[in-house]
Amino acid sequence: MFSARTAWNRTPNLLALRRETLRARGVDVVDLTMSNPTEVGLAQPEREVQEALAAPGVAGYAPEPFGLVSAREAVAAELAARGAHLSAKQVLLTASTSEAYAFLLALLCDPGDNLLIPMPGYPLLSYLADAASVELRAYPLELEEGFGFDTETLEALADENTRGVVVVSPANPTGQVLAPEAQVALDALCASSDWALVVDEVFGHFLRGGRPPSTAAALEGEALTFTLEGLSKSVGLPQLKCAWTAVTGAAPLRDEALARLEILADSFLTAAEPTQRALPRLLALGPPWRRRVAVRVEDNRQTLLAARPAEAPWSVLPCEGGWSAVLRLPQSADETALALELLEAGVHVQPGHFYDFPRGRFLVLSLLEEPGRFATGVQRLARTLARVLRVPERSGW
Ligand SMILES: Cc1ncc(COP(=O)(O)O)c(C=O)c1O
Repeated sequence: MFSARTAWNRTPNLLALRRETLRARGVDVVDLTMSNPTEVGLAQPEREVQEALAAPGVAGYAPEPFGLVSAREAVAAELAARGAHLSAKQVLLTASTSEAYAFLLALLCDPGDNLLIPMPGYPLLSYLADAASVELRAYPLELEEGFGFDTETLEALADENTRGVVVVSPANPTGQVLAPEAQVALDALCASSDWALVVDEVFGHFLRGGRPPSTAAALEGEALTFTLEGLSKSVGLPQLKCAWTAVTGAAPLRDEALARLEILADSFLTAAEPTQRALPRLLALGPPWRRRVAVRVEDNRQTLLAARPAEAPWSVLPCEGGWSAVLRLPQSADETALALELLEAGVHVQPGHFYDFPRGRFLVLSLLEEPGRFATGVQRLARTLARVLRVPERSGW
């Protein structure tokens, strides 16, 4: 009856099972896997969202395959502030960036073709690729290389069925940013190999140290390039279901991509029209909200750094942006056993293998949690790591 490609393993992992048992027993567990800003006191102000959505026209329906021009113009203007000069015609609206990925898989790949994706990475693409019968080939981001990559590695992984490269910037969970010179090299490689470049910038606004955001869409390169972003992360409104893809690159290829995407998009018409109508006002809610998130994420990072005893065998990896912290563990550590131990101690974190780190032992923490809860979680974490990894605790924790 069913397709082989949807025969996914649905057995819950040990951590999820244990978490459920503890929840059922009413045990207090600080959730440092939380990535939903609306649940940690970082929801957008209710009234402002209501007012934005109250724009006239909600009772009508004027479907446009790529989305309303007014909404796409607002996105183009946002990207222009980051140096990208594109017309609204190069902007496609979808319900989410996940859906944009699904469109791109359909646009670029036949069954059996492959895309190069970063490893570690957020485990979203594997299901989307399975559903499209597309193979994912992971290029390693090595700790020793600052989680960067080189074009030789990509070339070595590719074959005649490779259709493109995915880059996430800032990366999830490691937070490294695609440097302009790396993008230029990637653009040249993709253009000469007849590959598309997909740059996921859902965390693009969240750069540390007040660094202004840039965008891959600003490079006037040769390669067919898709730059992805959405309301979900950049404005904290995942519930309003609207994301955008900027399509750039040399004109004949770019126009062919847009023409094909138009038919695909017209077959779905998924971006909700009330959200599209409200998009210019919703985008304006972004800057103050992002400032709140930046403060939250940075304060929590400092709390985490302060909890680490000087001689601890674990460390917090430096990062350029995003919402996560990566803890490096000794090579002898068992990530799953440790995450289970931490759960028993009342703090839920993700083991590194959830993100497929190519080597090494890691834990991944979300930095979004409300500061008091975060401090409690980190206190439990430091105490447990001190006990399990057998190092002295920092006094006061
Ligand atoms: C790197 C990355 N890209 C895309 C997504 C999906 O975002 P959306 O909510 O727009 O589908 C996520 C979700 O966490 C993500 O981490």
